[in-house]
Amino acid sequence: MDPIIEIEGLSKDYETGFWKKKTVRALDGLSLTVSPGQIFGFLGGNGAGKTTTIKILMGLLFPTAGSAKILGRDISDVSMHREIGYCPENPYFYDYLSAMELMTYFAGLFGIPASEQKDRSSELLRQVGLAEKDWNRQLRKFSKGMLQRVGLAQSLVNAPKVVFLDEPMSGLDPMGRREIRELIAGLRESGTTVFMSTHILSDVEALCDEVAILRSGRLAATGNLHDLLARGGERQPFEIVAAGVDAERLQEFAKASGSFVRQKANGIGLEVPSEVEIDAGIKVIRENGGRLLSVQPVKQSLEELFAAEVEKS
Ligand SMILES: Nc1ncnc2c1ncn2[C@@H]1O[C@H](COP(=O)(O)OP(=O)(O)O)[C@@H](O)[C@H]1O
Ligand SMILES: [Mg+2]
Repeated sequence: MDPIIEIEGLSKDYETGFWKKKTVRALDGLSLTVSPGQIFGFLGGNGAGKTTTIKILMGLLFPTAGSAKILGRDISDVSMHREIGYCPENPYFYDYLSAMELMTYFAGLFGIPASEQKDRSSELLRQVGLAEKDWNRQLRKFSKGMLQRVGLAQSLVNAPKVVFLDEPMSGLDPMGRREIRELIAGLRESGTTVFMSTHILSDVEALCDEVAILRSGRLAATGNLHDLLARGGERQPFEIVAAGVDAERLQEFAKASGSFVRQKANGIGLEVPSEVEIDAGIKVIRENGGRLLSVQPVKQSLEELFAAEVEKS
């Protein structure tokens, strides 16, 4: 399948200082390819360059160097904008409009006939979970979470092939985050490609197929999320968790097999270096009166991967 987004050597210098003598390199030679039909997570700490990248892709900022294509068309080709959606980081709108007025306005911009604008708007406002009693209230009375929902609804008005969401979970409480997560997962089901920036790692683990990690404007890692997290191969360690066994009694086995014993809230965890040692580990636990609770591969968490990639320099 042809990539849906292709980024090639993108760099951006911001000019700062009163006489614009200084420049800050916000993006430094970023190259990235995103294939269609997935939720792509664009990760990085504050100031990593996520918003800068998305603004360049949306044609709101000019890159200092490099180029990019969306749906096979250069980002300078504005006709492509009819087929994409964008929800900015802080969706501040014409705040004297109501949610419904804003939606019908955007529906009109995208050429949806007047007779269908209201239905399309209602459908989307319902989909993003904005209560019907709020549809005709002015946006200036909305909370951050409500504005975030309107922003999402707005970005979907033209049924885009690919939608760019800059920190879509920000300003949402846990219930709201769960609803927006389900909505984003639903977009993938309906065939929309999602490119989302975020620093909320639990949302990435729950949603994303592939990710890119940005560090100081450079690509630190990219690929399938599960491949990045698996330590992989035959050296995949496993943790056996058991209750009712004294950690001391496992030390001899641990030493001989290259395992580790650690205290856990519900018992002990015996980390064996690979699948080969699982049976022997279970045996020694049972022989010492332990009760088996679980056996699981030890994967690197996204948090660990993220910290490792962000701390390198
Ligand atoms: N308009 C601007 N002028 C000067 N520097 C900017 C501007 N916008 C962003 N930056 C700088 O560029 C870097 C990347 O910012 P940004 O793209 O907003 O990162 P992120 O969205 O990942 O938090 C940061 O160092 C930020 O301070
Ligand atoms: Mg940002």
